[in-house]
Amino acid sequence: MKVLALLLLAATAVFAKHEAYQGWKSYYIGPAPAEKLKIFNSIYEDYGVDVLSRPLVNREGVVLVKPEQHDNFIHILEELQISYKIHKDDVKKALDQDDEIIERRRMETLARNGGRAFPYDNYQPLEVIYDYVDDIAKRFPDTVTLVEPAKSFEGRPIKYLKISTTNFEDESKPIIFIDAGIHAREWITIPTATWAIHKLTENITEPDLLERFDWIIMPVVNPDGYAFTFTPNNRFWRKTRSTDQHPLSVMFPGVDGNRNFDFFWNTVGISNNPSSDIYAGGAPFSEIETRVVRDALHENLHRIALYITMHSYGSMILYGWGHDGTLSNNALGLHSVGVNMAAAIDRMKLPNFPSYIVGNSALVLNYAAAGAAEDYAHFIGVPLAYTYELPGIGGDAFHLDPRYIAQVSEETWAGLAVGARMAGDLF
Ligand SMILES: *[C@@H]1O[C@H](CO)[C@@H](O)[C@H](O)[C@H]1NC(C)=O
Ligand SMILES: [Zn+2]
Repeated sequence: MKVLALLLLAATAVFAKHEAYQGWKSYYIGPAPAEKLKIFNSIYEDYGVDVLSRPLVNREGVVLVKPEQHDNFIHILEELQISYKIHKDDVKKALDQDDEIIERRRMETLARNGGRAFPYDNYQPLEVIYDYVDDIAKRFPDTVTLVEPAKSFEGRPIKYLKISTTNFEDESKPIIFIDAGIHAREWITIPTATWAIHKLTENITEPDLLERFDWIIMPVVNPDGYAFTFTPNNRFWRKTRSTDQHPLSVMFPGVDGNRNFDFFWNTVGISNNPSSDIYAGGAPFSEIETRVVRDALHENLHRIALYITMHSYGSMILYGWGHDGTLSNNALGLHSVGVNMAAAIDRMKLPNFPSYIVGNSALVLNYAAAGAAEDYAHFIGVPLAYTYELPGIGGDAFHLDPRYIAQVSEETWAGLAVGARMAGDLF
């Protein structure tokens, strides 16, 4: 096993940037009727296809396809009569172009900000995000507490901020809990969390949101995975980086954090194969990264009014139950708060971005998946728990152009503000 792993390392080391994606293509899939999407969602794993955004009945999705699977995959799409068209016929080249855009942006913003990098200026490496979080904690000691509850599998600190005008001691205050970056490649999620921190510390334009609520904000749930996506051939990494879950985990590390929560764990929309992007892990909460979220939820459970976990992409606000499409007894509350958050975002969004879709995750996606964070939070008693699927890549490449990061952060904050106030009223 060790020798194999070393060989694999040696093999990947010879690749230059994004070379591993040479010959890959991406496709728009759908839109397609629900019955066809259900079939598609049950078979795409067999073709090694990586779904970046799920096709819906009224919206196309985007998937990545390996060279050796193109023909088979196109064949099955034609057999199923699901529409498709090329998104990028040269994934490596598209990633190189993304890098150029990001690098140009980096030069511009560094010049504008006197050499400082901010999380909402661009897609930033973990160090920039953590420096920002540390700096906020130092500068706002009266309201901000930095918590480092554990180290990631590879030994990076996992960090979150508690933000409160009453040191988390006022038992009557509702708590709003936001996390991001459990899926490593979903880079746009992280600035939306740090923007919320910014709006509760550096730029308080809605003082009621700071005074009325306590906040828990965890910007990078999966720091190992996030750091890994910044290494040359791993831009599309999604999972954690653990190697202790399966005999083959040394060769195929990582667990899908959003299949690892203890809610109908390992039953549907998962894989038991560690090489899969939806590998559920060896046990529920096998990952330190998901245990940290679990523990923060449980420690504060009696006061958490709203939990939001940030993902991308697809412009959706989703709620449980995700494993079977049934509704919880707070479905009316979930839907009405969800619709109001979406409306607040839509009012601010750019005209070329899609409107938000709100609903039960299994029903909207035509895809059931167990072990998700938002389902777990709701199951243990958080009255309002959501997955945000933030806006996506449009037609250009695989990153939303970094010039849109501030826009997405601001409009998402508008949704969070409405959600917090409604959650507070209902709590
Ligand atoms: C705070 O936000 C407001 C509204 O977006 C903006 O006009 C102002 O320049 C910001 N101030 C700082 C210090 O960032
Ligand atoms: Zn995700």
